[in-house]
Amino acid sequence: MRIGIPKEIKPLEGRVALIPEACGDLVRDGHEVLVGEGAGVASGFPDAAYAAVGARVVTQPQDLYAAADLVVKVKEPWDEEPDWLRPGQRLFSFLHLAADPALVQRLLASGVTALAFETLEHRGGLPILAPMSEIAGRLAVQIGARLLHAPEGGKGLLLGGLAAAEPGQVVVLGAGHAGAAAVRLAAALGARVTVFDLDADKLRLMDQVGPQVTSLYPYRDSLDRAVREADLLVGAVLIPGARAPHLVSRDQVAAMGAGSVVVDIAVDQGGCIETTRPTTYAAPTYLAEGVIHFGVTNMPGAVPRTASRALCASLYPWVRRLARVEWPTDPALAGAVNVEQGRLVLPALRQV
Ligand SMILES: NC(=O)c1ccc[n+]([C@@H]2O[C@H](COP(=O)([O-])OP(=O)(O)OC[C@H]3O[C@@H](n4cnc5c(N)ncnc54)[C@H](O)[C@@H]3O)[C@@H](O)[C@H]2O)c1
Repeated sequence: MRIGIPKEIKPLEGRVALIPEACGDLVRDGHEVLVGEGAGVASGFPDAAYAAVGARVVTQPQDLYAAADLVVKVKEPWDEEPDWLRPGQRLFSFLHLAADPALVQRLLASGVTALAFETLEHRGGLPILAPMSEIAGRLAVQIGARLLHAPEGGKGLLLGGLAAAEPGQVVVLGAGHAGAAAVRLAAALGARVTVFDLDADKLRLMDQVGPQVTSLYPYRDSLDRAVREADLLVGAVLIPGARAPHLVSRDQVAAMGAGSVVVDIAVDQGGCIETTRPTTYAAPTYLAEGVIHFGVTNMPGAVPRTASRALCASLYPWVRRLARVEWPTDPALAGAVNVEQGRLVLPALRQV
């Protein structure tokens, strides 16, 4: 099997799907591995590190796409990339198609079979999404804390507070991998945190983080009260494969007050806050209702040295399984197929 790992072209995306150690093991398994020139550089892996394990470094991305039976990449195909996909080929990457009908059409037209990292379910969880969500959750607090500083346009608040100065109020929607990581870091900084989830087990876990954390069911009134008092609002809900539900309205965002901050991690699934729109690291923030919004859809792309290693460790076993001829009999992989040779197969996408 020819496995292609392109260099990511989404703005300021530095991650690479597979690190050299993983490529070396694939080569030892008898696969041919093609790596886009410079694909690993931002993660600390020069082309020579891939060549040293037996991978072939390819200069032109079109050549890599034309040759590969299986394309493994990080972000959804971007810009010209969907035009280079072809029938009979497998694509394995983050796709987030529920928020991107135009990409759905391009994938259908290409004839590719596309499997999404974020819809691969195993043992009741999403093993490839999970480490990226944990990174995004921590980044949401690091970035949100900084955006609250006055030179960034924020209201001029030290999130953790100090003696004689109250800490900031953080509200987190969703206590899954991203939300829980945000709650833990915000609490560790000294902020007061309110977290909402539908799942009582998740709320119980959040309650154990510390006395500064309040965990609540998202009744409309409770959510409304908490959001209005929030200095930093973090969106992190997920219904796998589907567009995120809007839990917070434009009016509620306006009530947070000027210089408050929204970081909607769920933006890749359409966002769970009405005022959210997708941005890139090239221009990551915008103002809506006087509130600073951060809507970057590839947040872990800012920390490629950390994120590529974490992503590869969760991804690699699935790449090996997907490289086998009998992969369609693997229930987890079969369930991750979003588009199959011109057909939309993921039920949650049928309304897109
Ligand atoms: N922007 C980025 O760069 C980036 C990076 C990683 C993950 N994400 C996104 O972050 C989101 C969260 O991912 P995750 O891995 O933490 O998911 P997860 O499945 O671990 O957690 C989602 C949580 O949302 C809860 N939930 C669902 N509907 C809810 C509702 N109506 N009210 C309250 N809670 C609700 C679920 O019970 C669950 O606990 C996803 O959209 C994912 O794609 C974005």
